[in-house]
Order: sequence, then C-alpha cells, then structure tokens
Amino acid sequence: MQRLPRHIAIIMDGNGRWAKEKGEDRLFGHLHGVESVRNIVEGCAELGIQNLTLYAFSTENWDRPEYEVSGLMELLVDTIHKEVPTLNKNNIRLHVIGAMDMLPEAAKKELNDALEETAVNTGLNLIMALSYSSRWEITNAVNGIAKAVKEGLLQPKDITQETLRQYLTTSQFPDPELMIRTSGEYRISNFLLYQLAYAELYFTSTLWPDFRKENLYEAILDYQGRERRFGKTGEQIKKEESTNS
Ligand code: IPE
Ligand code: IPE
Ligand code: MG
Repeated sequence: MQRLPRHIAIIMDGNGRWAKEKGEDRLFGHLHGVESVRNIVEGCAELGIQNLTLYAFSTENWDRPEYEVSGLMELLVDTIHKEVPTLNKNNIRLHVIGAMDMLPEAAKKELNDALEETAVNTGLNLIMALSYSSRWEITNAVNGIAKAVKEGLLQPKDITQETLRQYLTTSQFPDPELMIRTSGEYRISNFLLYQLAYAELYFTSTLWPDFRKENLYEAILDYQGRERRFGKTGEQIKKEESTNS
C-alpha cells in the first residue's frame, strides 16, 4: 500500500470483440464496458489512488460507423447523468481532456454540469479522455505557446520542458506511473505520448468488459515488482532505495 502509483492510465479496449464473442452488437459491449468503469473507479477510490485517466474515445474513433458513434455518445450522456451522485458520495472529482468542441451539445452540457457538480471533491481525480488524442493535444499546446510568444508573454529562450508541460491538458496531474491496456493489443493508439515517457506499461488479454478490481490489483502488483531506473543503473537505484529507507 505504500508503493501505489499516484496516477494510473487505462486504454479501455475490447468492447467490440467482447460483444462479438457473444453474438451481440458492438454497442452491447460498450454498455457492459460501463460496468467495468464503475468497478475500476470504485477500486481506485478504495485504494486511495489519486489520479485515474480513462481513454474512452479517441479523435480517430469519430471515423467509426455513425450508429456506433451516436450510440456511444448517448451512453456517455446517460452514464454521466446517472453517476454524478455516486461520484459525489465517493468524493471523486471528474475532469475531461480532449477536443470537447467536437462532442454533441447534449454531451457537452451533461459533462459541464458534472464537472461543476463534482468540482469541490478532493478525493480521486477521474480524468476522462474523450475525443482525445495525444497528437491533437501536443499540436494544441504548440499553438498556445506560439500565441503567447506572438503576444510577447513568452520569450522563445524561456520555453522549457516545464512550459510544454503547462500547456498540455494534463498540466494539473502528475505523469502516469502505470499504463494498462486491455484486449491484447500492444500499442499506445495516440494516448498520452508525452506523459507516458517513463510509465510502466502493462498489457493484458482480458477484454475491457471483463476487467475488474482483481485484474487491476494484478496490474498494480506487477508494477510494484518492476525496477524503475529512469536512465540510471540498477546499482544506483538500489543504493538510493537503501539510503531512503
Ligand atoms: C474500446 O473498445 C472502446 C472504444 C474505443 C470506444 P472497442 O470498441 O475498440 O473494441 P474492439 O477493439 O473493437 O474490440
Ligand atoms: C483506443 O482504442 C481508443 C480507446 C480505447 C478509446 P481503439 O480500439 O480505437 O484503438 P486501435 O484503433 O485498435 O488502435
Ligand atoms: Mg479497439
């Protein structure tokens, strides 16, 4: 319990295949995926994890068939509406990262209400990546920096890694230490490319609608068994650990 990641990020993948296995429509998989979201959010809150980022919809997902996109949006509006009381009860604050302007009006409104209604909560930060992609985010950040330079608020020589960090949508959160992807795909799919620089990656073949707290604990235990070296040698890390303890 002393060595929990402060920030866990999850690519929730495999809803479509889960539904197909059962001879059902893809939307059936997304519907069941919501159950996993509830379970994992609860699990993280119980453990005292401070930040959880869930990749729910990528900017590329807009290119899916229209019926799936609108079904997902409806599910989103409906779920947020229903979950706000539970978030408040558990002191969970909702955040959204992504191109919000691309979302349908109803989804935007529901989200903005939920952001406001949970704004005073001080427990888990639940960060939903919605209509998000890392290349979109980095491009946005570069735009913001260019604008600040043009307006004379920032000198090019003063642009540091810290500047870029401040312009990312995740500026208020530490980088994820653990990134989990379900469904047996071994890729990042445009998720937090910059922030995952030193994250430990955990891949599982479990499909998202089957992913539960027990699977989360397994991922965390795996993470805790890793030696995070940040470019140093294993000997240096062991020495640091023994002087710190
Ligand atoms: C993840 O499941 C949910 C979203 C991307 C919205 P998928 O819908 O990608 O499921 P698979 O990968 O097709 O099984
Ligand atoms: C990544 O899943 C995006 C989300 C989980 C929201 P995808 O299913 O869209 O990723 P690819 O297309 O298989 O890389
Ligand atoms: Mg997928």
